Amino acid sequence: MSFAPGPPLTSSAVRLVLLGSGELGREVAIEALRLGCEVLAVDRYADASAMQVAQRHAVIDMTDPAALRALLGAERTRPCARLLVVPELEAIATPVLLELEEEGLHVVPTARAARLTMDREGIRRLVAEELGLKTSAFRFCDSEQEVRDAVAALGAPCVIKPVMSSSGKGQSVLRSADDVADAWTYAQESGRVGAGRVIVEAFVDFDYEITLLTIRHVGGTSFCAPIGHVQEDGDYRESWQPHAMSAAALHAARELAQQVTDALGGTGIFGVELFVRGDEVLFSEVSPRPHDTGMTTMATQALNEFALHVRAILGLPVPAGEVPLLSPGASAVCLAAAQGDAPVIAGVAEAMAVDPSVDVRVFAKPDARPNRRMAVALARGEDASTARAIARAAASCLRVDSA
Ligand SMILES: Nc1ncnc2c1ncn2[C@@H]1O[C@H](COP(=O)(O)OP(=O)(O)OP(=O)(O)O)[C@@H](O)[C@H]1O
Ligand SMILES: [Mg+2]
Repeated sequence: MSFAPGPPLTSSAVRLVLLGSGELGREVAIEALRLGCEVLAVDRYADASAMQVAQRHAVIDMTDPAALRALLGAERTRPCARLLVVPELEAIATPVLLELEEEGLHVVPTARAARLTMDREGIRRLVAEELGLKTSAFRFCDSEQEVRDAVAALGAPCVIKPVMSSSGKGQSVLRSADDVADAWTYAQESGRVGAGRVIVEAFVDFDYEITLLTIRHVGGTSFCAPIGHVQEDGDYRESWQPHAMSAAALHAARELAQQVTDALGGTGIFGVELFVRGDEVLFSEVSPRPHDTGMTTMATQALNEFALHVRAILGLPVPAGEVPLLSPGASAVCLAAAQGDAPVIAGVAEAMAVDPSVDVRVFAKPDARPNRRMAVALARGEDASTARAIARAAASCLRVDSA
């Protein structure tokens, strides 16, 4: 369908319903607004980051099927030229998206992709069992005894994760059978929906891990340069681009990403998380949307991951093959240390003074809690490791204070 946006809030508007209004959704909203779209930003709490820039907002529990159906039903009766539902997080009542897609609603990239990636089991079974691609060895378990058996079968160390969790919640490393009881309890207490199934994965002793941003668009599939990252306590701390890879590993990574994203279908950007060991590449997981480690593209690419996503979902052109890099670059996060309302981000000027290439994105979240991501420092450099050092130095100037 051709893209010809009329004024937002009129019957000729192109409307995006963003399900999830965090810092990634905020950048998607900004890119959509630049193209003249109407954005309805949705989240479970008021004043979320993306709500602050969108024309409209709604506060609902997106995991509640009735609430989600009511919201999307109302949007469908509101006249507009085009309506797209754009999931920005995993915790959504995806059966509702499947139903409404059947009735003709455009869900990005597809309702099935949202469904399969909302829990680890759907995507893992698709990639490892249906597509036969390389992943860590794994087992799904429903009891502490099954975890014990899995560790015996897979061999320690293993990683245990609730099937419904993100940002490392409920995840831990099992170094031996002695760790099973505590790890099981932790996983049961910390999953998104409380107690339930876990995945036990053999620990992959990778050389490095990357995010391969993969864009499915009207002209085919394109790739961004590989993004390297460091994870701590389940969330990324630093990312940089490009991450150096052997030609063989890069080729394998792209093949794998192409097969996974083809199986999920639709158009949009995907963050394909991969483990690399020598020239061998293993699939870890995929987000059918912009990826947090991809924030570094705000420093490195003329069309960052959010702009690429918006173009792809609207059917607009995306560079073919490899998306050009303007410069190597990096991002480093600023996390809150403590709980607090109306948090203040201090040290922005100091961060910017570190280097002329530094930029800061402040997410403007209404409250802070320990380890909540509040801002990010971006930097460029002659190579990725220089950019990394600058981004890290800039982020170390940022501080979250209570008002
Ligand atoms: N099988 C494994 N072997 C080695 N390391 C692993 C394994 N699984 C996960 N990790 C490490 O833990 C990190 C987080 O794992 P994963 O991406 O599965 O969790 P997540 O909760 O979905 O995180 P996020 O939502 O931040 O992407 C990985 O990026 C990797 O560093
Ligand atoms: Mg991950």
